[in-house]
Formats: sequence, C-alpha cells, structure tokens
Amino acid sequence: NQNRIKIQIAAALLLCLCARASADVTVYSSQSFLHDTFPSGFLWGSGTSAFQTEGAWDQEGKGTSVWDHYTHSAVSGNSATETANVASDSYTHWEEDVKALELLGVRSYSFSLSWPRLFPDGNARSEPNTAAVEHYSRLIERLLQKKIEPIVTLHHWDLPQVLQERYGGWKNNTLVGLFEEYAAFCFHTFGSRVRYWLTMHNPYLVAVHGYGTGVHAPGEAGGPSGSLIVAHNLIRAHAKAWHTYNAHYRPTQKGKVSIVLGSHWVEPQRGQATAANVALCQQSIEAVLGWFANPIFGDGDYPVSLKIKHGALLPTFSAEEKLWVRKTADFFALSFGPNNLRLGRNLVQYGQTVTPDLRRILSWIKLEYGDPRVLVAEGGWFSEASVGIEDTVAIYLMKSFINQVLQAIKFDGVQVFGYSAWSLVDGFEWNYGYTVRRGLFYIDFSQPNRTRTPKTSAQYYQRVVADNGFLSDETFREVKGRFPCDFHWGIADSTLQVRRQEDDFAAENAK
Ligand SMILES: *[C@@H]1O[C@H](CO)[C@@H](O)[C@H](O)[C@H]1NC(C)=O
Ligand SMILES: *[C@@H]1O[C@H](CO)[C@@H](O)[C@H](O)[C@H]1NC(C)=O
Repeated sequence: NQNRIKIQIAAALLLCLCARASADVTVYSSQSFLHDTFPSGFLWGSGTSAFQTEGAWDQEGKGTSVWDHYTHSAVSGNSATETANVASDSYTHWEEDVKALELLGVRSYSFSLSWPRLFPDGNARSEPNTAAVEHYSRLIERLLQKKIEPIVTLHHWDLPQVLQERYGGWKNNTLVGLFEEYAAFCFHTFGSRVRYWLTMHNPYLVAVHGYGTGVHAPGEAGGPSGSLIVAHNLIRAHAKAWHTYNAHYRPTQKGKVSIVLGSHWVEPQRGQATAANVALCQQSIEAVLGWFANPIFGDGDYPVSLKIKHGALLPTFSAEEKLWVRKTADFFALSFGPNNLRLGRNLVQYGQTVTPDLRRILSWIKLEYGDPRVLVAEGGWFSEASVGIEDTVAIYLMKSFINQVLQAIKFDGVQVFGYSAWSLVDGFEWNYGYTVRRGLFYIDFSQPNRTRTPKTSAQYYQRVVADNGFLSDETFREVKGRFPCDFHWGIADSTLQVRRQEDDFAAENAK
C-alpha cells in the first residue's frame, strides 16, 4: 500500500515536472524562462562545508567530530563503510579551491570552520589549535586578495565528539553557552576580515536526522521529542551567538549574521487547490522552515500549527526568550536542495505535490517574514556518482533554479542579493557517502592528488556569472535546444525518488 502511494506520488511528480519542463512559454509567460540580468552587485558564489571536503581528519591537532565518529563506527547507516578521512582533501588543496573559484569568476565563497579543528576539546575558553587558526586565516586572506567575499559558517554539523560524549550534544542546553563562546572566538579572531557570518547550516537536518531518525551523526533515533529539544537548543545557540556579535563585534566589524534554513516547496496538485489543502501545504512548510524561521524571523515563537501538532512535546519559549530570539538575523539565508526536498516528499499528502520551485518558496518567505533580504546560501542538485564531467542534468537544474531566483526578483520583488551554487567541489555527501556528487568541479576520489576538474556545469555557471544572468542572445538556443521531456524528467524523477528507508522513517517522525 505504501509502495502504491509512493508510485502515485512519483507519477504525479513526473507529470508535474514534465509539464513544467515543456510548458508553453506563451501560455504561462510568468513561468517561462526569463532572459534578463540580476541587479548589479549580485553576490554570485559557491560553497562547501568543512566535514565534506577538508579531509585531514586527524591532522595537525584536529579533534574528532561527531561525523568522524559516526562514519568510523559500525552503527552508521551510511553507504558502505565510507569515511571523509581524506574526502576532497581541501585542507591540503585549499589553494586549488580558490583557483576553482577564480575560474568560476564568483564574488563569494561559503565555507565552514571546523569547530573540532579549532578546539579539539570543544572548549573555546582553552587555547585554540594554532595550525587551524593559521589555515583559516590563510584561506580568508587569499580570498580577499582575489576579491572573493568569505561567507563563513560557524557550524555545519561537525560538532566536537567530546561534547556529544560529555553532554549528549545538542540535547543539552549547556551547548548553547559553549557555542556562544566558540562563536565569540571566531568573531574575535576572523571577524575583522569577514562581512558575512552564518551561525549554522540547516539545523532542521541536525534535529531531524541527527537526533530524530539517526541517519546523520550523532546517529540518535530519539524520534520527534529528541528533534524538538535539539531544535530548541539550536535556535537558542544561534540567538545567543547573534546577540554576542551584535553587542560586541558589530560596532567595529560591521558585518552581518544569519542562519541557513532549509526548505522544500509543496503545493496542491492541479485541481486540488481547496482551502483545506492549501492550509495543509502551508502547515507542511511551517513544520520545516517555519519551525526555525518563525522564532527568528517571525514573532519569536513556534508556528501555531506546530504547537497543535506536537502539544506538550514542543518546548516553550518564555515571553522574555521570545523577545530575545526574534529578529536575530540580519538577512534570510535559504538552503534549497535535494536533502530538504527528499524529506519534504515524505510529507506530501493526497492531492499535494513537492516541486523544486525556488521562486515560490522565495515568495513565501517574502510574504511570511516581512520582505527580508535573502541569500540563497545553498542552491543546487546532485548527480549520481557515475556521472562524470558531463553533468547535463545538473546544468538544466542549475539553470532552472537560477532562473527561478531571477523571476522571484523581477516578478515578485523578492530581495535576493546572492546565490551560492552548491557545491564547489565533489565531496562526502553525508549519509549518501560518495554515491552522489554535487560539485561544480569533479574529483576522482581514487587519485591521491584530488585534481579538481571543471564539469560542464562549472562552465555554464561561469557564463551565467559573467553575464550576470541570462542574456537574450541565448533565446535561440533556448527554444531550439529544449530537451525532450522524457529525457530530463525521467532522470529527475529518479533523482527525486526516495532512496532510503530512513527517509520514510523520517517522514513518520516528522508527522
Ligand atoms: C547536560 O550535561 C550535564 C553535564 O554532563 C549533565 O549533568 C546534565 O544532565 C545534562 N543535561 C541533559 C538534559 O542531558
Ligand atoms: C594526479 O594524478 C593522476 C594519476 O596519478 C595524474 O594522471 C595527474 O596528472 C595528476 N595531476 C596532477 C595535477 O598532478
């Protein structure tokens, strides 16, 4: 029965995507491909995270992270026995990463600092690991030399393992203070050279997968109650770090601080747009994006629909805390990619469809949270590992995502100021290990030198960046070169498929 439902969903999705892919431009002019340019100064970028790319997991004084521990232990649900011990070896080959950015011509680079590399014992009141401080300083200096803006994430999931063992990780509100100390150290040490900070990346996945389903490190299957407590602490840790920046570093450093939040997009299927269904779709987004965004960008509290759904399981913010949590972000940072859409697909109900529609979610953010400035901090899809340099489907999706952003700006007035194409290089893809690739640059993981080779998507992105959008000389190629529906979306359907039972489990928990 469940399989039958899955098939129906897959079929509906295929039809829907197919319809969109071949949509007659004259009929839905606002949904057609838009030939136009982005506002001048648009912050084109690309990004990586420390655990996925750095490697050197035990080199030069780095401590163990929960992800090191998880991938080294037998309990991990990750494909085969893959680790990120070397991964893309960016700790060693960071200069090549900068060269890759230069080749793309981008103006920003999002990367994350490894907390256990800076503080092997997780304690930012102790002496930092100087090798790590020097490494990140060199990287930041080189980026600035090349006129590439560093966008620095403090925490992209690689919590020091010692904090997991000593406190139970993010379940424990002691982590709120420890994170703030770590954040303060980073602001103090690197902040004079960094204008954009992101406290953490997609806390939804940490809460749901790290502590709910256990398919991400630290691998705890605590169900909804575990996820809810963890989310509560993550939100408070973010808010505390923001306040520290605001009070002590902003006056001199004048940077901006936000948090990357992930989302899917779900809407009623054609002919099913009843008021009840629309309300359910709204609740679906509230259960994912709103869970974190409503406290931070809304009224300081969880969405009402979440309170009804979880009742007493949902931790509460005191009146004072609500005031303290709200407005703790200087812009909105969105992650829109396969990880959220996969989970989102599990949340669909009859008559609903999850689509990779970046334009709609951007509009939703504008309407819901008072028209904030938005950075698409992670945009992109993935290819199967077997796809090499010629990543045609990735180009198609990149083009459509970026065009959706352009439409959101031009037609819907969303204030998007940057786009980070994810990711710069192939790396370790969490519970998918090396079975999927997300890089603009190809890496052969069997070769010790980890040469970065630009994929066709890198060349395509380079052109979009150089043109600052989509010039109309492309019109001809666009119309004539439209891919056959089954070609693209046959593949897209398989990429959107629910690939692991864990995802079903996640959906059960998320309900
Ligand atoms: C948090 O950590 C402290 C110190 O280990 C411990 O005493 C306390 O029980 C922990 N709290 C939770 C909720 O795990
Ligand atoms: C990397 O190693 C491969 C195989 O050993 C070799 O073919 C390639 O030339 C090397 N690349 C660089 C830049 O050294």
